[in-house]
Amino acid sequence: MHLPKAELHLHIEGTLEPELAFALAARNGVDLPYADTEELRTAYLFDDLQSFLDLYYALMAVLRTEDDFAELADAYLARAAAQGVRHAEIFFDPQAHTARGVPIGTVVEGLGRALERSEETHGVSTQLIMCFLRDESAESALATLEAAKPYLHRISAVGLDSAEVGHPPVKFREVYEAAGALGLRKVAHAGEEGPPAYIREALDVLGVERIDHGLRCVEDPELVERLVADRVPLTLCPLSNVRLRAVGTLEEHPLRAMMDAGLLCTVNSDDPAYFGGYVGDTFHAVQEALGLDRERLRTLARNSFEAAFLDHDEERRAR
Ligand code: HPA
Ligand code: ZN
Repeated sequence: MHLPKAELHLHIEGTLEPELAFALAARNGVDLPYADTEELRTAYLFDDLQSFLDLYYALMAVLRTEDDFAELADAYLARAAAQGVRHAEIFFDPQAHTARGVPIGTVVEGLGRALERSEETHGVSTQLIMCFLRDESAESALATLEAAKPYLHRISAVGLDSAEVGHPPVKFREVYEAAGALGLRKVAHAGEEGPPAYIREALDVLGVERIDHGLRCVEDPELVERLVADRVPLTLCPLSNVRLRAVGTLEEHPLRAMMDAGLLCTVNSDDPAYFGGYVGDTFHAVQEALGLDRERLRTLARNSFEAAFLDHDEERRAR
């Protein structure tokens, strides 16, 4: 039985399964440089974040219409629901689509169509988090926020993703200030491949409420103390960390030690089509690899609701 849980670190483009990629490629007349799903799956061997991102962005070429985005999100929500997800806060990368000539409205309206019927069809409440690509310019992020203005009723928060090292949070100070002024909440990827200093900067300069990944905080005891004291949630993604070689093996993942240190840890799938499992699978994998008992798993599930952008009534209903 899957525990009821919230998923807080999930890139919708990272839920594009090979079968759907080929179906959409055929529908949209897009040529994929792979003969079939089998051959595509053999490309899912990554050395680091960048080698994953290269394939992640390339495969998005198949996503073109509102229907495509609606179908992608609906497929994720069905899978997530089957693994106990009751609430999902879903990232999307508008710049990865607008750069290919797909308007932001197509993306948001398509995703929005699946999300708005999700409580009814899947029993999963949802929010949408718009991410800026940190390896693109600050100006491009500002232009993206501007382009998103007609769709803000569908968007809860902003986030920051893509290649981390060399692109510190401070680069996006202005766009986060502007997003805050528009009433959007704030999260950011930090400390996945980047140093603990990026986690501090995300908190101090961008004013984020949660840290996505945050894995490398363990290198900085003072930072850990602060994250514990302030109950800053970390949206950890253990299978992603193994596949992108941030940790050697799942058995070596610091999740258990991080929980013991008092950090508000959550467990998430990140890009489940690429990293070998949805969030229920991920709970299962860490349970086995780290020997977590049922009480620990319940704590992780409870943390996911505490860390979610839900008010108390919504939280009670979702649990
Ligand atoms: N890190 C940074 N950017 C991303 C990721 C990730 O794990 N997944 C999709 N975009
Ligand atoms: Zn991520």
